[in-house]
Amino acid sequence: PVVFVLNGPNLNLLGMREPEIYGHDTLDDIAGRLEDRAQELGLSVDVRQSNHEGHLVDWLHEAQAVGAKAVLLNAGAYTHTSVALHDAIKGIKTPVIEVHLSNPHKREEFRHKSYVGMAAKATVAGFGPASYIVALDAVLHL
Ligand code: DQA
Repeated sequence: PVVFVLNGPNLNLLGMREPEIYGHDTLDDIAGRLEDRAQELGLSVDVRQSNHEGHLVDWLHEAQAVGAKAVLLNAGAYTHTSVALHDAIKGIKTPVIEVHLSNPHKREEFRHKSYVGMAAKATVAGFGPASYIVALDAVLHL
């Protein structure tokens, strides 16, 4: 079974981007660890990143079309703005787990509202890059 791991805007800059908040791992580093963990769990991962909101919407639809077991979604700043992502999550039956490296609730007020979280099955946030691994492990508990 495949798990889609969808990453939104600016997450291609991980490793260089505000490392005091997001850490030094790149998205490729995280993808490598997810692949290793997925193998241990008898899963596979399809890790993608886009800076474009519509790509994320299309990939959510694709997750359902290919019968993905779940989606891990770090929508970056679209988390806090995107009714389109909210509707896409509601529009598919595939369970979506919201993921964040940081804990948005400890940060600026504009990060406290999550259109993704209001539609997602569950949220994992605040573990740094390990948030993705915690979320992947949680797929077995869906
Ligand atoms: C983030 C948190 C968001 O508020 C921010 O816009 C990001 C990254 C995280 O993983 O901590 O781009 O989703």
